[in-house]
Amino acid sequence: MDKSGGKDGPSLSNHLVVVVGGGIAGLGAAQRLCRHPGFRNLRLLEATDRCGGRIRSQPAFGGVIEIGAHWIHGPSKNNPVFQLALEYGLLGEKEMSEENQLIEVGGHPGLPSLSLSSSGKSVNLKLVEDMSNLFYTLLDQTREFLHVAETPVPSVGEYLKKEISRHMFDWTEDEATKQLKLSVLKTFFNLECCVSGSHSMDLVALGSFGEYATLPGLDCTFSEGYDGLTNCMMTSLPKNVILFNKPVKTIHWNNSYKHENFPGETFPVLLECEEGEKFPAHHVIVTIPLGVLKEQMEILFNPPLPSRKAEVINSMGFGTNNKIFLEFEEPFWEVDCQQIQVVWEDASPFVDFEDELKDIWFKKLIGFLVLPPLESTYVLCGFIAGLESEFMETLSDEEVLSSLTQVLRRVTGNPQLPGPRSVLRSRWHSAPYTRGSYSYVAVGSSGEDIDTLAQPLPTDSSSPQLQILFAGEATHRTYYSTTHGALLSGWREADRLISLYDLECQQKFKP
Ligand SMILES: Cc1cc2nc3c(=O)[nH]c(=O)nc-3n(C[C@H](O)[C@H](O)[C@H](O)COP(=O)(O)OP(=O)(O)OC[C@H]3O[C@@H](n4cnc5c(N)ncnc54)[C@H](O)[C@@H]3O)c2cc1C
Ligand SMILES: *[C@@H]1O[C@H](CO)[C@@H](O)[C@H](O)[C@H]1NC(C)=O
Repeated sequence: MDKSGGKDGPSLSNHLVVVVGGGIAGLGAAQRLCRHPGFRNLRLLEATDRCGGRIRSQPAFGGVIEIGAHWIHGPSKNNPVFQLALEYGLLGEKEMSEENQLIEVGGHPGLPSLSLSSSGKSVNLKLVEDMSNLFYTLLDQTREFLHVAETPVPSVGEYLKKEISRHMFDWTEDEATKQLKLSVLKTFFNLECCVSGSHSMDLVALGSFGEYATLPGLDCTFSEGYDGLTNCMMTSLPKNVILFNKPVKTIHWNNSYKHENFPGETFPVLLECEEGEKFPAHHVIVTIPLGVLKEQMEILFNPPLPSRKAEVINSMGFGTNNKIFLEFEEPFWEVDCQQIQVVWEDASPFVDFEDELKDIWFKKLIGFLVLPPLESTYVLCGFIAGLESEFMETLSDEEVLSSLTQVLRRVTGNPQLPGPRSVLRSRWHSAPYTRGSYSYVAVGSSGEDIDTLAQPLPTDSSSPQLQILFAGEATHRTYYSTTHGALLSGWREADRLISLYDLECQQKFKP
């Protein structure tokens, strides 16, 4: 059988490639392919009316806010997002400095400037620091289980709790202080849920947790918006490559399709959009988020995905982390305050609240980042993960604003505290083309599953090769959940196609 699928096979420069999704993975793949002479026939189909996907900046409050990705994690020379941002001149002096690039934080967030508790008092920052040290020391210990056949407990959460209960034997303070320590630790658990994009750390697999890798450099932001990066990538592509508002409904593969625009040619793949439009292809790079794959894979692939691939899509973790921006006329915090932690004194890593979500959802909020002050307005950015976060998405702005005003009045101990004048939030779980925030390695899955997800189709050698390739954040084994992981995955799949092309060139021109 002819391996390239066409009548005489596609002539070498005629590989028709379609990239599905215009996030950083899809744009990265398209950019790489466009720079290669063999891939002049390229299309990128994006479901929405914009590029960037989970990189999404928005003008608000007289400045720019990030609805999705916030930081370059580990901005230093081996980070491709950092390099690209440098190339496009999108970073400031401080972010570019050698000094900034050398700072090692191991992926751990800094300490809060202020910790407020549900009894309306500030929590002693020394106690917060002690609990932070304990929490991150234990979290780093999870790396010990990386190459262990069987872990003592299945999840990161259970491991942390087991270790914390051992440490508690050495706590000599009064009961109230011990309870406060547990409450502070619970906020760190909730923070780690935001980092992992998971409802609970009990869902995050212990065995593979240490496989996630960090890069040196103090996390930095884009002062003009993260999407400056994806916009630059987008405009570097030739006109007509990207088609917007083209949600792909079904990818028909492993067949021979004809198309009126290509008389006499056949293609192994045919993409069918929601509106019925059809695009033939020799190769498709799918960068659809894992949340959408979980929900849509039965409709998205015809014939269905091999069962092993479908299994890993089901078992891998994909949860929700959202941001809630609150705008104030006057700050209730000091000028040098950068992070405000919120601690619920009735909370502990060892007890789950059993009330209805509507009464307690806000207790999952870890606190706020203080955004750089804008002209006559002050903005806090809260983070909330899990089912509580998904529930928050179903509420109205008024309900969120009213609940958080009550929370703030309570934790500041000031019942007259003027509430925020407006609220703006992300809703990543409801977003039809995302369905959550980012991936994690769930209990019942492993790092190997990430590689299985990334494997191209078909998996046997009987039919045309590399019909469907998989990229996107969730396909990167060590940098999943990040923009640099997503970008590297797009490059990886572009390179996979380029290697096939190079191989065909060699075979064709063999003397
Ligand atoms: C709240 C939040 C905060 C984050 N913070 C950070 C951070 O600080 N630092 C960091 O490095 N990372 C962060 N991330 C993660 C980062 O944003 C992602 O890992 C990365 O942007 C994913 O890129 P991607 O190209 O894989 O997927 P996406 O950006 O999701 O792109 C996929 C694209 O596919 C499109 N699509 C989906 N279905 C279809 C279909 N059927 N047909 C056609 N198109 C389709 C979507 O519309 C989308 O444009 C954050 C994410 C969130 C949600
Ligand atoms: C693909 O097509 C070949 C040849 O018709 C067939 O043997 C194979 O089972 C098909 N694979 C899938 C996944 O449908």
